[in-house]
Amino acid sequence: IRDVAKQAGVSIATVSRVINNKGKIKQETETTVREAIKKLNYIPNKVAQGLSNQRSNAVAFILPSISNPFFPEMARAVEDVAQQHGYHVFICNTDDKREKVLNYLDNLATHYVDGIILNSHIIKEADLEKLRNNNISIVMMDRVLEHEETTAFAVKNRAGGRKATEHLLDVGCKRVAHISGVTDIPTAQDRMWGYLDVVGTLPWYDTSYISRSDFTVEGGYQAAKELFMRHPEVDGIFAGNDLMAIGALRAAHEWGKAIPNELAIVGFDGIDMSALTTPPMTTVQQPIYELGELAMKELLGHMNDEAYEAKTVNLDVELIIRETTMRTQQN
Ligand code: RIB
Repeated sequence: IRDVAKQAGVSIATVSRVINNKGKIKQETETTVREAIKKLNYIPNKVAQGLSNQRSNAVAFILPSISNPFFPEMARAVEDVAQQHGYHVFICNTDDKREKVLNYLDNLATHYVDGIILNSHIIKEADLEKLRNNNISIVMMDRVLEHEETTAFAVKNRAGGRKATEHLLDVGCKRVAHISGVTDIPTAQDRMWGYLDVVGTLPWYDTSYISRSDFTVEGGYQAAKELFMRHPEVDGIFAGNDLMAIGALRAAHEWGKAIPNELAIVGFDGIDMSALTTPPMTTVQQPIYELGELAMKELLGHMNDEAYEAKTVNLDVELIIRETTMRTQQN
């Protein structure tokens, strides 16, 4: 920027005003400066710009696992809305590790972004205070910290767990098991509670019908095999997300179980892949795109100083019935 000022015969402040379209500048001065920028092929540094005028027009979407299709589908919506409003999006994968989340918050947030969409169950209110003190806007989504200070968008996970489990009983399953996600994650916990709301008081039920897993395909595969060994009579499985349901489907095929008549399976999320399994998976569809859209629109409102009222919004989920539960005969 110093070379541009020298080339144009103006001050650095004048060049900065031309770059940021700020303040009154004579047309001939602006022309001279822009010619110098072109001649020297100068590209303004967004970070420096952000520091100088305190706006970076960038946001961060901090998410737990880039390898789970659920989150990229959500990121699609965040980026679509951000781009429509001239914002760049940093996608930050944390692998659900607290030190990675804090590292992102310390680095990105205090230097390069105007706002953050946070999908993380390992964050604490004190961590968010630090962001607010740096005038960083925050919206949480999916795995949220219920706090009156922070706006959060999630879904009715417990009701979704009930819908999945009731559906399995409705199609004639006599023994329904649950493969849960990591149960210190609120979304996994609430889905498990939904399952227990339906079967927890039935005479056959005990805790051995729950196999705890980790929201991955491999985890679902191993958990299903454990269930088959522990309870060969199980004829219905509700898995806490689609990846684990896909793993359970693979285990069922390996064990020669006819789907759905010997074993019916329901997943949760409604990722695109759930429609592509053999047979296609019944699942509880989350409004993934809508969640991302609402969260980004809320963040825009907050960053542009509209009246910001913290709120928690829990969206409905929908049971999408496909072939893994369309039983043609009762056993
Ligand atoms: O599939 C990953 C899961 O973690 C999703 O169900 C989502 O709700 C998140 O909590």
